[in-house]
Amino acid sequence: MEVLEAIKTRRSIRKYKTTPVDDKTIELVLEAARWAPSWGNTQCWRFIVVRDSNIKAELANTLRLERADTVVENPATDAIRQAPVVIVACAELEKSGYYHGEPATDKGDWYMFDVALAMQNLVLAAHSLGLATVHVGRFDAKPAASILEVPEGFCVVEMTPLGYPDQVRDPRPRKELSQIVFYDKFGLK
Ligand SMILES: Cc1cc2nc3c(=O)[nH]c(=O)nc-3n(C[C@H](O)[C@H](O)[C@H](O)COP(=O)(O)O)c2cc1C
Repeated sequence: MEVLEAIKTRRSIRKYKTTPVDDKTIELVLEAARWAPSWGNTQCWRFIVVRDSNIKAELANTLRLERADTVVENPATDAIRQAPVVIVACAELEKSGYYHGEPATDKGDWYMFDVALAMQNLVLAAHSLGLATVHVGRFDAKPAASILEVPEGFCVVEMTPLGYPDQVRDPRPRKELSQIVFYDKFGLK
């Protein structure tokens, strides 16, 4: 699939077939992530391929956020539980955006940016192979790290179910270019 077509036709999918995904295909999407650019080529990302049903169920529980006296449900919860594979993206901290051990910019650690680049490569590659994904960021990352035994100095950034889609989704609306693009200075059309 051509890159622009993949970008435009990818959708967030939250219903998956139980059809397994073979190792070769998983390796292809991980390879796409591996080739993402990163700050100073630091490649702070790490990926955990979860196939174990119990671990997927435990991860799905981390999507149920309890805040004050309300419970916030995540629409991707069942997808994490049911998809044949979940890819969890982790990051090594204080590598991306750092120079000689100090943050090089006022933005501090750039791990979110680098992991996002890798995961977007991964989801586009998955889509080009007929697989579905959804970036999942709204979950309790600390319990997720403990379930996955992520070591000190690393954190869990996002996860995505990976599998064959069991739904067809219309595109979500996007802002028009005229709303988000300026010329020469911010706000100038
Ligand atoms: C950083 C990030 C975090 C997201 N977290 C969640 C999530 O926790 N649960 C969910 O169902 N969708 C999540 N999404 C998916 C967005 O809702 C989705 O990308 C957006 O509505 C646009 O739809 P599309 O991906 O089909 O174009 C997330 C997307 C991004 C980029």
